[in-house]
Amino acid sequence: MASAGHHRDLIAYATLMAIFVAGANAIDIFLEWNVTVDTTIKPVSLDQPVITINGMLPGPLINATTNDFVHVNVFNNMDEPLLFTWNGIEQRKNSWQDGVSGTNCPIQPGRNWTYVFQTKDQVGSFFYFPSINFHKAAGGFGPIRVNNRKVIAVPFPKPEAEFDLLIGDWFYDSYKSIRSEMAIKLMAFQGIPDIILMNGKGPYGHQIARAHESFNVTRGKTYRFRISNVGTALSLNFRIQNHRMVLIETEGSYTNRITLDSLDVHVGQSYSVLVTADQNEATYYIVAAPKLLNNTAFPGLVGVGLLCYSDSTTQITGPLTSGPDPFDLDFSVSQAKSIRWNMTTGAARPNPQGTFNVKNVTLSQNFILQSSEAEIMGVPRYVVNNVSYYTVDPPLKLADHFLNGSGVYQLDQFPVKSVNAEAAYGVSVVTGNHRGWIELVFKNSLDAMNSWHFDGYGFYVVGFGYGEWAPELRKTYNLLDPVVRSTVQVYPGGWTAVYSYLDNPGMWNLRSQLLKHWYLGQELYVRVHDDDSNRAKEQRPHDNLLRCGIVEADSLPPASAPSSSPRRTGQDID
Ligand SMILES: *[C@@H]1O[C@H](CO)[C@@H](O)[C@H](O)[C@H]1NC(C)=O
Ligand SMILES: *[C@@H]1O[C@H](CO)[C@@H](O)[C@H](O)[C@H]1NC(C)=O
Ligand SMILES: *[C@@H]1O[C@H](CO)[C@@H](O)[C@H](O)[C@H]1NC(C)=O
Ligand SMILES: *[C@@H]1O[C@H](CO)[C@@H](O)[C@H](O)[C@H]1NC(C)=O
Ligand SMILES: *[C@@H]1O[C@H](CO)[C@@H](O)[C@H](O)[C@H]1NC(C)=O
Ligand SMILES: *[C@@H]1O[C@H](CO)[C@@H](O)[C@H](O)[C@H]1NC(C)=O
Ligand SMILES: *[C@@H]1O[C@H](CO)[C@@H](O)[C@H](O)[C@H]1NC(C)=O
Ligand SMILES: *[C@@H]1O[C@H](CO)[C@@H](O)[C@H](O)[C@H]1NC(C)=O
Ligand SMILES: *[C@@H]1O[C@H](CO)[C@@H](O)[C@H](O)[C@H]1NC(C)=O
Repeated sequence: MASAGHHRDLIAYATLMAIFVAGANAIDIFLEWNVTVDTTIKPVSLDQPVITINGMLPGPLINATTNDFVHVNVFNNMDEPLLFTWNGIEQRKNSWQDGVSGTNCPIQPGRNWTYVFQTKDQVGSFFYFPSINFHKAAGGFGPIRVNNRKVIAVPFPKPEAEFDLLIGDWFYDSYKSIRSEMAIKLMAFQGIPDIILMNGKGPYGHQIARAHESFNVTRGKTYRFRISNVGTALSLNFRIQNHRMVLIETEGSYTNRITLDSLDVHVGQSYSVLVTADQNEATYYIVAAPKLLNNTAFPGLVGVGLLCYSDSTTQITGPLTSGPDPFDLDFSVSQAKSIRWNMTTGAARPNPQGTFNVKNVTLSQNFILQSSEAEIMGVPRYVVNNVSYYTVDPPLKLADHFLNGSGVYQLDQFPVKSVNAEAAYGVSVVTGNHRGWIELVFKNSLDAMNSWHFDGYGFYVVGFGYGEWAPELRKTYNLLDPVVRSTVQVYPGGWTAVYSYLDNPGMWNLRSQLLKHWYLGQELYVRVHDDDSNRAKEQRPHDNLLRCGIVEADSLPPASAPSSSPRRTGQDID
């Protein structure tokens, strides 16, 4: 289950029993990643720098099971500082492993650093990507599977095979030149990507593609596709010619099964669908087509792969399978509303996902977050409530740990319910009430899709709408079976409302998943602090903690406490 935190407490006893019965059989998974910039891998036949992991794009699959410990020793052989983040992995009580600019000092070129995180109480499909310096535009992404433990029932028959499929937009330019061009003339920079990749490969039949993605299937068998949009900007409509898809999971939640001809996958989202090879033995198109983009004006901007039946000999010809009108947002909104949590199925734990629902929750906080663009002192930026996040050194989490936050950021200066009259930079850190329910309303005043992600949590997606949000619209919310996920789309000129239960102490990034927006300031941090200094609470940093800025190891007295001393909370000073 993604994150019905409250639920976790209510069922603590049941869980203890379950562990007792099932045995605690989590394992440690050790990975070594050599991260380099490669100019030979060429997703398209152009010379451009591509970030690879052990020579691969996408990077290697992280194939974990619920509660496993994943150790990733990252060797940065690039010429720039690097961090990875684990999209949708909750890092329970351990934002030290989250790998974003507010929680970790970057891994310097020529150095290595080992992440250790647990896939605690999670199951489902996720992905990782490099989080700073606009690196995601150059690759470095890869799939994460969190498999269910053997003792937990899964609400569908075991598929013949599982396929990870990372789809996303891609630029022909080097990420360094896009990065610098964009920072200067954002408004003029259209930022329309050049091509759509599938698992790092160009579209079938495209003149500039060197290879295309294909999947072999056997007639009569059923396959699970784990699809993630790892791109920078474009929402994609995904479909497989002549085949229907049965939606089963999104970002760690089993959904009510619905049968679809096509599925909108927004930037940063992950889904699982079942596809049965029930057609004649032949070859079929797999298509990922951008939303809100005129296919006639950008004919090459569509991802194309192939579904090949094992005995097929025919070459595929003919037009791509068509999908919904890319400008028909009603189609998209109505599909989004039909994606519901299956309340009676099991999850990562042997309890139904819906044991706890949000029908009766008392909200303790409400944030209304309006995203737009603005100029700040003549510099184009993206803003939330007219504040553009300014990245500080040392990271917020280290500032809390070593300096009680002082001198680095001021808590709660960010306006959580109103838009500043003047756009400005800010080190936006706001308090999230520990063990309180929060309502987040995302508003999008631009004419493009946006999508928002909350690290550390899943949220219950209770409503979508067009136009202005107002409190009375709460009566339109779906409080019965909202799906729990960690990335949600916000339609142009519209709003999206989510609930989250803040039971995971830490410093958590709340961001636009659109790379350009994130890179230019559309993010904030929610600081969820647990006053209880009992050692079972938030984890202390590991011994390998990287330091930087004014908390560089050399500039501080050596840490006095050995790691076996009582664990410190964010408020303590070393
Ligand atoms: C990492 O990859 C680069 C480029 O392929 C190679 O030169 C280097 O030797 C590799 N390093 C390790 C530790 O494998
Ligand atoms: C992933 O792990 C599961 C469980 O250990 C295993 O059954 C499966 O074969 C693995 N898949 C891959 C692709 O390694
Ligand atoms: C760097 O890699 C070495 C060799 O694998 C390992 O022993 C060491 O712990 C790593 N350093 C960090 C900070 O993770
Ligand atoms: C929900 O899950 C249960 C248990 O696996 C299953 O029997 C039921 O068909 C599912 N409901 C839907 C609508 O998918
Ligand atoms: C799919 O099948 C073809 C023909 O049998 C084979 O050449 C190819 O390697 C297979 N591809 C995969 C990904 O298994
Ligand atoms: C799409 O582009 C074509 C060619 O540029 C143009 O004729 C058509 O009107 C456009 N359609 C829409 C819906 O904008
Ligand atoms: C919600 O509250 C009402 C009245 O207090 C109660 O009857 C109902 O069972 C509660 N529903 C859930 C799902 O807890
Ligand atoms: C740390 O900061 C908080 C709020 O800014 C303050 O209440 C607390 O007293 C400080 N703790 C120490 C040890 O200085
Ligand atoms: C945001 O700031 C800009 C100037 O920096 C101002 O023009 C705009 O009206 C502000 N937005 C709102 C909604 O107040």
